[in-house]
Amino acid sequence: MRLGIFDSGMGGLLIARSVLEQIPNINMTYLGDTLHVPYGARSTEAIYHYTECAIDFLFSEQDCELIVIACNTASAAALRKIQQDYLPKKYPNRRVLGVVVPTLEAAAAAQIKKIGLIATKYTLASGIYQDELFKIDPRIELVTNAAPLLVPLIENNGEPWLYDILQTYIEPLRRQNIDGLILGCTHYSYVRDLAQNILGPNIPILAQTEIIPAKLDLYLKRHPEIADRISRDGNRRFFLTEVTDSYAQMSERIYGQAIDFQKADIKT
Ligand code: DGL
Repeated sequence: MRLGIFDSGMGGLLIARSVLEQIPNINMTYLGDTLHVPYGARSTEAIYHYTECAIDFLFSEQDCELIVIACNTASAAALRKIQQDYLPKKYPNRRVLGVVVPTLEAAAAAQIKKIGLIATKYTLASGIYQDELFKIDPRIELVTNAAPLLVPLIENNGEPWLYDILQTYIEPLRRQNIDGLILGCTHYSYVRDLAQNILGPNIPILAQTEIIPAKLDLYLKRHPEIADRISRDGNRRFFLTEVTDSYAQMSERIYGQAIDFQKADIKT
C-alpha cells in the first residue's frame, strides 16, 4: 500500500519533496487537483466535493493506506467531515491527516505567544486556525492576513514581484509585534527565505515543509500497524486532474525536477 499526498494543485509538491527527503523510500502517490485550483476563493461545498473525489481516487485507484491533505484550504473545508463521516462509512481502517493542527503544535512548541498567519481567504474565513489554536493553548494570540496574490505569482514565474507583495502582506502583522509567522498554504514554503528576510532573523518562520515531514514520521512510528502496511520500495507516482506542458515546467521550479505527470481520471 501507499502514502497519498493531496493538494489543490502544485504547491503540495513542496511538501511531497520534503516528506520524501525525510522518508526516502516510502511508496507515494501525489495528486494535485489542477483542474479546480485555486481552492482559496471557492465555497465549502465545492472544496469538500473536490476533496472527497480526490480522496476516493487515492484510496480506490492507488491503494493508499494513509493520505495527507497537504492543502490548508482543503484541510479547513473537508478534513473533519472526511474523518467523522466519510472514513467510518467507506474506509474505516484507513487514515486521512491534515496540516493545520501539526503546524499549530509546532508553533506552540516553539513558545510563540503571538502568531502571525498568512493563508488563503477561505482558510482564514473558516476560522480553523483560531479554533484549533484555542484547543491547543487559549493564551496564544493569532493575527492573520490573507495573501491571495502569492499563489498566482509563485505559479507564474512572478519572482520579481514576490518580495514587495510578500512584504505588503507581512507588514501589518509585523506591526502587531508577532513573534512567529505561519506560512499557512502549501505554496508559501516557496517564499520561506524571503519571509525571513522581511521579518529579520529573530522571528521564526513556521514553514510546513519543515513541520509536516517530521510530524508524519512521528505519526508512522507511533502507529506501526499503519506504517507496516505502507511499502517502501521508493516507488513514486504523480497525478494531476488536468495535465498540460506548463505543469512539467512548473514542477522543475517547485519540485526541483521535471515530472512526467499522469492524468487522474476523476469524475467530479
Ligand atoms: N493549496 C492551497 C492551500 O494550501 C492554496 C492554493 C489554492 O488556493 O488552491 O491553502
